[in-house]
Amino acid sequence: MADPVPEEFTRALAATASRRGQFGNPLYFFFETGSTNDLAASLAENGASEGTTVLASSQTAGRGRFGRVWFSPPGAGLYTSIVCRNRLAAPFLTLAGGVAVADGIRTATGLPVHIKWPNDIIVEGIARRKLAGVLAEATSTPEGLQYVILGFGINLGLAAYPPELSDRATSIELELGRHVDGAAVLGETLAVLAERFRELEHGESVPLLKRWRELAPSARGTAVEWETVGGTVSGISAGIDDDGALLVRVADRIERIISGEVRWK
Ligand code: BTN
Repeated sequence: MADPVPEEFTRALAATASRRGQFGNPLYFFFETGSTNDLAASLAENGASEGTTVLASSQTAGRGRFGRVWFSPPGAGLYTSIVCRNRLAAPFLTLAGGVAVADGIRTATGLPVHIKWPNDIIVEGIARRKLAGVLAEATSTPEGLQYVILGFGINLGLAAYPPELSDRATSIELELGRHVDGAAVLGETLAVLAERFRELEHGESVPLLKRWRELAPSARGTAVEWETVGGTVSGISAGIDDDGALLVRVADRIERIISGEVRWK
């Protein structure tokens, strides 16, 4: 059973109600859960409508891309998952999630975050540090796509990051040196997501791609490398194509990377 929604979230959702459409309606809140993506998937299995949102203030089994653990201590982050059903929007969900989180953070806090392909939300400084990530998990049957769960984890506050993360992770409060209103970040993120979905439902992916490219300067002209069965390949990033694949110049050819892990050198 869900816990009562804290008042600051009720207020932030009311403040963004006219821009959020169905995103955040309904909102289920949990002080602690395993993974909000799992909870949202079971709601979707039981017919939950597009925009149904699960929010937790801690996760005991939060997961990231490639099955990695997503560190989700109590009170230090926003752990959120959204049921998405629209088939026109589905191919662009990962990009839309990255843009929504980046612009949600920028609008609510003023922190000028960037995106690192495919959808790590980072701050650029002496080193690039990650403060949010997006995980889209699709469920299909022989009849086609049933739903996608769009999950995002945003590091809001100070937390004692495990040693393997401490030199790569950061949080909004650590970067700004002040308290931030996490509920406002959620409200703005849902509002941007709704706006991007409205475009995608009308078949318009160009504005989303344009905004993604603006938010991801490192997707062009940066030295990158990745592993293949034949060994490590390196090249220079050359932007994303209109399907969201990363293009990389390797010697005299362009490689197209659709998924997997790319290291920024
Ligand atoms: C990444 O690897 O960068 C993606 C991280 C996604 C984490 C979020 S937290 C809310 C939702 N529930 C999960 O178990 N994972 C996602």
